[in-house]
Amino acid sequence: MDEHRPLRTYGRIKARTLKPRQAGLVETLLPHLAVPEEGAIDVAALFEPSPLGGRAGWAGVQNEAQAAPSHSILNAPHPNPSPKGEGLVLEIGFGGGEHLVAQANAHPEQRYIGVEPFLNGVASCLRHIEESGAQNIRLHQGDARDVIARLPDASLDRVYILFPDPWPKTRHHKRRLIQPEFLSELARVMKPGAEVRFATDWANYASWTLEHFTREPRFSWLADRAEDWRKPWPGHTTTRYEEKKLGDCAPIWLRFVRTAS
Ligand SMILES: C[S@@+](CC[C@H](N)C(=O)[O-])C[C@H]1O[C@@H](n2cnc3c(N)ncnc32)[C@H](O)[C@@H]1O
Repeated sequence: MDEHRPLRTYGRIKARTLKPRQAGLVETLLPHLAVPEEGAIDVAALFEPSPLGGRAGWAGVQNEAQAAPSHSILNAPHPNPSPKGEGLVLEIGFGGGEHLVAQANAHPEQRYIGVEPFLNGVASCLRHIEESGAQNIRLHQGDARDVIARLPDASLDRVYILFPDPWPKTRHHKRRLIQPEFLSELARVMKPGAEVRFATDWANYASWTLEHFTREPRFSWLADRAEDWRKPWPGHTTTRYEEKKLGDCAPIWLRFVRTAS
């Protein structure tokens, strides 16, 4: 075991057996969308050419997909063009991918990288991608910190961290994603002016996050009044965990900007 490896921030990586259609998508669609497992990430190469561009791309995927016979997107060319180098957005811990795919469809000019260790979540996200025909999403099944470490400096325009695992017991706080080393790496890969959008419904995790971001001089909290953290930002799509209301408070919405320093 690598003694320098940070502590695990997530729970299970697999639950129930995948349904045949989802298993088919993991086998056939995921390899077309996956961030390479190793080496520096070349963002332009990752998104170009789009593996799903046009009918031919989807047909290739369909031919491979024994267990996923019905790709509705095959029946009509999708209106979304391949993104041509607009903003780059990272969603850390996308769960079932509902927010990621909704955002990607709402902003086809942006490029999205979603990272999630939980295989069933990745499979669910693939289903949403396939059903919506979104072409501007790439995925990594694993730890977001492994992806961030391989991103170029100042490459991200936005980062979503929505309802991260709260680790509410004090002895587990060290497993929280928000840690000084993580924020330092995040600051490295974010462009000046880029934004982190964080939400939690655990009061202690909200204070923890505010404290940690405040200590990192390359971030500033974007809030002038209570309404700024009590209400989601415009255009927010409700997430699955948000709906479950498992925390100990109403959701708290925190936006941090990467400063120029
Ligand atoms: C409580 S769930 C919330 C999922 C989703 N954002 C939502 O709001 O429905 C937190 C998710 O973060 C994922 N996660 C935890 N640590 C992570 C890490 N280091 N990198 C990427 N994802 C992580 C977990 O697997 C889990 O799916």
